[in-house]
Amino acid sequence: MRINRKLNKPKEVIEINDEIDLSLINPLINIYKTKKGNLIPLLQGVQSIYGYIPEEAFYKLNKDVGLELAAMYGVATFYSQFRLNPVGKHIIKVCHGTACHVQNASKITDAIMDSLKINDGETTEDNMFTLESVACLGCCSLAPVMMIGDETYGKLTGKSSVKVIKNIKIQESKANN
Ligand code: FES
Repeated sequence: MRINRKLNKPKEVIEINDEIDLSLINPLINIYKTKKGNLIPLLQGVQSIYGYIPEEAFYKLNKDVGLELAAMYGVATFYSQFRLNPVGKHIIKVCHGTACHVQNASKITDAIMDSLKINDGETTEDNMFTLESVACLGCCSLAPVMMIGDETYGKLTGKSSVKVIKNIKIQESKANN
């Protein structure tokens, strides 16, 4: 079922995506419902469950906790930690902080975009990879740097970054056979 992307649409005409199990949020709601300053912990919790904040979750939090849609949406769009779209299994974070920027981080992003046929911020069609530009990852001496999952890769070139991704693809296909 198609999801209505307009958050200000009246509740009774909102179409709900059948694939999202909103009951997974209930334990979070039970913990935070009556707590002050619960907006950010709730959004973080929702994102940790789904990998992003589904639109339906905003409406559920509005209905069950009483949080204003505009307030939640404002916070979720202000802080870069929050995602409003589904992400791939592997999130490729390419650092564009100052140290990485001067070491040609844009070449890393360009090479990955070219290899995966996606733009920055997008996810591959097979939902395997999401590409993101991020601020300093805290290991500037290794610039330019990218992170995939918990792994950090430094001193990259466009070619070596694409090689890392190809290796992940090989591991994935082995795991699926
Ligand atoms: S600027 Fe890239 S790790 Fe610090």
